[in-house]
Amino acid sequence: MSKKFSVVGTIVAGALLSVAAQSAFADEAVENGEKLYKRERCETCHGPTAEGSAAFPSLVASPKLKNKEEFTKIVLEGKGAMPAFKANKKVADGVDSLFAYLNDLAAKKK
Ligand code: HEC
Repeated sequence: MSKKFSVVGTIVAGALLSVAAQSAFADEAVENGEKLYKRERCETCHGPTAEGSAAFPSLVASPKLKNKEEFTKIVLEGKGAMPAFKANKKVADGVDSLFAYLNDLAAKKK
């Protein structure tokens, strides 16, 4: 292999690796979010598919999925019949993962 070719190869391989690392990170967030959604009982109100019911809003159709700040605020502070989760360290630390999971779920439903 010529030296020039191997330099280009290294750059291409590096770019591919960084893309792979980013998507591995995203997958991990989605996976962690799914665990939290189930274990920390979002599921009991918003349902196993996050589509909600007559009493609870759908999260996959929620406009809050487009606004991480508003999403985070509701999860941490609560709203109406939605309890605050700020005292739940797993949820407080994992809000980004929950956001990633629900966005992933919403994208799959389209
Ligand atoms: C005890 C039932 C209950 C649990 C448990 C619960 N929620 Fe909620 N959630 C609600 C209710 C009720 C609302 C509607 C609040 C309102 O607008 O008055 C809501 C609203 C929301 C909203 C805003 C939706 C919108 O479009 O306005 C988000 C986001 C949300 N919940 C996420 C979560 C997550 C994430 C969890 C788990 C960490 C969770 N909820 C657990 C009852 C619950």
